[in-house]
Amino acid sequence: MDIESLYKKADFKTEKHVPVIDIKGEIKKGQDIAVTITVGEEIPHPNTTAHYIGWIELYFLAKDNSMPIQLGRFEFSAHGASALGADTSSVYSSSTVSTSFKTDMPGLLIATSYCNIHGLWQSSLEINL
Ligand code: FE2
Repeated sequence: MDIESLYKKADFKTEKHVPVIDIKGEIKKGQDIAVTITVGEEIPHPNTTAHYIGWIELYFLAKDNSMPIQLGRFEFSAHGASALGADTSSVYSSSTVSTSFKTDMPGLLIATSYCNIHGLWQSSLEINL
């Protein structure tokens, strides 16, 4: 078994674990491209002490390249815990992040995410310049 086979894909409209990649604004060569990634865009993910999204990663695979460039790794640390116990703080991370990057090349944005109960998920979005 290889790790690739452990990453699941699905339609985000029916599956709350898919990291959905959204681009804000126009995409232009060499200028910042604003990216938001949300796990649970259509169907919210619970995000509790017992069940949460641990992280999201974002990669860019330039056209005709075989190695993706990691653009960022975003970890979520607040899952309702406090000294009083599970789900007592009322502080919960939201499983959404925003970042930006620039490139002169077209390619593929790839987002991956991890749920502590439901495992690894992925999605991708073409960047055309
Ligand atoms: Fe989950």
